[in-house]
Amino acid sequence: MRVVLGVGGGIAAYKAASLLRLFTEAGHDVTAVPTEAALRFVGKATWEALSGKPVRVGVFEAVETVNHVRLGHEADLVVVAPATADLLARAAGGHADDLLTNTLLMARCPVVMAPAMHTEMWRHPATQANVAVLRDRGVHVLDPAEGRLTGKDSGPGRLPDPEEIFAAALGLASGAGRAAAHDADHAPGEGLLAGRRVVVSAGGTREAIDPVRFLGNRSSGKQGVAVARAALAAGASVTLVAAHLEVAPPEGAELVNVESALELRDAMVERAAAADAIVMAAAVADFRPARHSNAKIKKRDDAPDQPIELVRNPDVLVELVRQREAAGTKQVVVGFAAETGDEAGDVLAYGRAKLERKGCELLVVNEVGTDRVFGLDENSVTILSKDGTAPEHVAGSKDEVARAVVVRLARALDAR
Ligand code: CTP
Repeated sequence: MRVVLGVGGGIAAYKAASLLRLFTEAGHDVTAVPTEAALRFVGKATWEALSGKPVRVGVFEAVETVNHVRLGHEADLVVVAPATADLLARAAGGHADDLLTNTLLMARCPVVMAPAMHTEMWRHPATQANVAVLRDRGVHVLDPAEGRLTGKDSGPGRLPDPEEIFAAALGLASGAGRAAAHDADHAPGEGLLAGRRVVVSAGGTREAIDPVRFLGNRSSGKQGVAVARAALAAGASVTLVAAHLEVAPPEGAELVNVESALELRDAMVERAAAADAIVMAAAVADFRPARHSNAKIKKRDDAPDQPIELVRNPDVLVELVRQREAAGTKQVVVGFAAETGDEAGDVLAYGRAKLERKGCELLVVNEVGTDRVFGLDENSVTILSKDGTAPEHVAGSKDEVARAVVVRLARALDAR
């Protein structure tokens, strides 16, 4: 893959040298394009030695090579790290005052920008507006990491680790590459699921204790809704079986609202029968209260503690796989797995065991914790496949993860 590594003028420029090595060691062809300011932190010699290529900064250097047009045009991936506040502003404004901004204007491949700056600069409305403009145009702007900054201060503004930027960039490039290869005449993803019926579950179930209380979970429904949206964009007709959602369902999907795991099971079993693909993105409660009071449970000062007795809910995903086996169809079933690693195993090991246990074709594994994934717009997942395809890591917005899931789903449908 031809990678352009843009380097902005910030102290984190030295970390871009490690990023460059990650790309070259993985066999990619990298052209480093630092800005003038970046060279004040890390000199040309470093970039030239690490990339094995001459390094140019301005549009009037090596004019005969038409660098300012060629680099962006030929790139399969552009990664900018660190993206300073000034560089984000110039990119958002469409400036073309150096080689890097020219390249950004020419590029039609995935573009990843990894910002690094002081917290105040990152939070400034001007920077946030520039980031919003770039994201709106499809540029993948990573959120800066939190932690110690150059001085004594700390907060969001650190450059994410080179490994993280590398993984996010490769995930983005592979998703876009596959979609483009699948249908070269269309925008990435468009038409991949044309004529397919897809049923998606999303959100978190609520298990009633009494008319006002329930046992619930932290799922916002964002990832499942994003999958429904991506499937619609890919041409599928979509039914969204929605447990409690914190986001609006997409226009164009048939909406079935449910509350509990049992209601979700009934809705899914019914709709799945005629579906080409099922995506179980909902967080389904494994247990429900054994008894449900029709009247609000009162507290009395003299009452003893009242433990809530729980009984198992059915595993909807397993039931859907069994239903598919019984019907003998080529339906593709996709599960999601929320995992945390522990001493006994890492997240992926648990994911692989779950894929086996559940019997679905694809399992989208993400690491969860109270401060990760739930309710956030970004996600980082690994897609595991029953057919032995290598695990695919995808990091990005939940929409980007959803598009990657749709691409894999389309491929699994085509292969069956
Ligand atoms: N799932 C389901 N029915 C359940 C529990 C989970 O259909 N009663 C589905 C989820 O929608 C998801 C997948 O199974 O697609 C994995 O969910 P997860 O909560 O990670 O797994 P569990 O089976 O609950 O296993 P555990 O909590 O023990 O890890």
